[in-house]
Amino acid sequence: MWTAVDVVKVGVIGLGPNGREHLANYEHHPRARVVAICDVDEGLANEVAGRYGIANVHRDLSILERDDIDMVAICAPNPFHGASTIRALEAGKHVFVEKPMAMEVASVARIVELWRQTGLRVMTGLIRRFNPLSQMIKRTIDEGVLGEVFYAESDYIHDLRGYRHMEDPFGSDGIHPLDIPRWYVGDVVEGQAYANRMVRPEPAHPTTLAIYRFASGCVGKVAVTWVPACTQRHGARVFGSEATIIDDRICLAGTDEWMPLPVQPIEGHPYRPEDDHFIDCLVDGREPLINCLEGAKSTVACLVVKDAIEQGGPVRIPQFEE
Ligand SMILES: NC(=O)c1ccc[n+]([C@@H]2O[C@H](COP(=O)([O-])OP(=O)(O)OC[C@H]3O[C@@H](n4cnc5c(N)ncnc54)[C@H](O)[C@@H]3O)[C@@H](O)[C@H]2O)c1
Repeated sequence: MWTAVDVVKVGVIGLGPNGREHLANYEHHPRARVVAICDVDEGLANEVAGRYGIANVHRDLSILERDDIDMVAICAPNPFHGASTIRALEAGKHVFVEKPMAMEVASVARIVELWRQTGLRVMTGLIRRFNPLSQMIKRTIDEGVLGEVFYAESDYIHDLRGYRHMEDPFGSDGIHPLDIPRWYVGDVVEGQAYANRMVRPEPAHPTTLAIYRFASGCVGKVAVTWVPACTQRHGARVFGSEATIIDDRICLAGTDEWMPLPVQPIEGHPYRPEDDHFIDCLVDGREPLINCLEGAKSTVACLVVKDAIEQGGPVRIPQFEE
């Protein structure tokens, strides 16, 4: 249940580069304060505690037993997200969980169930939604400028060779390019994927191409590669009956002219707006832009398609009641 607080007291779980980024943002927010942190690496946890003057250091989920925290940010590696989020909700904490929400569909379903039962807030770190360009495209589509959207695609093209031993590129990062067209166009109902292990013969597939059918009838394509011979690209292309958007440019039907969308590009990931938004929602009692269902839908749409790569063929995407 949401209860009014003057200052949101935060616990941060996982203090890698990502967890430290969120921690710094919470410390910066006038209505948030980090009161406890947790990492299995005690040396790292103590160093971070010293840097920020945080008195309470945990090495495990005993952090959730504290009465003096309102929310936790779960920034440990992906396999811990589901179980930690479930435990946090059971302990009565609001949760910011880095993407993906969980690595198992059953955990996602349990998180949604707990969210409905408790009224706590759960936001998944689908950070691209806080990019001003993504927001501009969303507004443009919602205003009807594109007409009927019949095709949407997005990619995650990033050389991450060596990053966590190529653990699971689509399971880890496929959610970013999937969530963006899903946000623009609505729920996905079916998907399938093709993948290869070329260029880097690690156990996981460094390159995956997934195709989706949306409830609206729109079709979509999502590509992830961790082995490109180029700099990062995270674009989106949206095709409507009245206009087409490719990355940051729009072409209106009949004009044959590409115009830049009126938005300032940003450097890096918009972590600060993402973190500010969740804290503001907890202070005001609002549901966040990415409420629990939004995170759940994008997570399961990735998981079931990824799990079906070996068997081949299309799979139905599990649906959640609104
Ligand atoms: N949204 C984004 O754009 C974005 C960007 C980078 C990372 N991420 C996500 O953030 C998370 C962390 O990424 P990272 O690059 O900082 O990872 P990392 O592996 O560098 O750091 C993870 C930290 O968690 C700690 N840890 C491991 N197991 C733990 C446990 N059981 N309990 C507590 N701490 C534990 C590790 O000691 C380490 O300090 C990942 O889930 C990743 O997918 C998201």
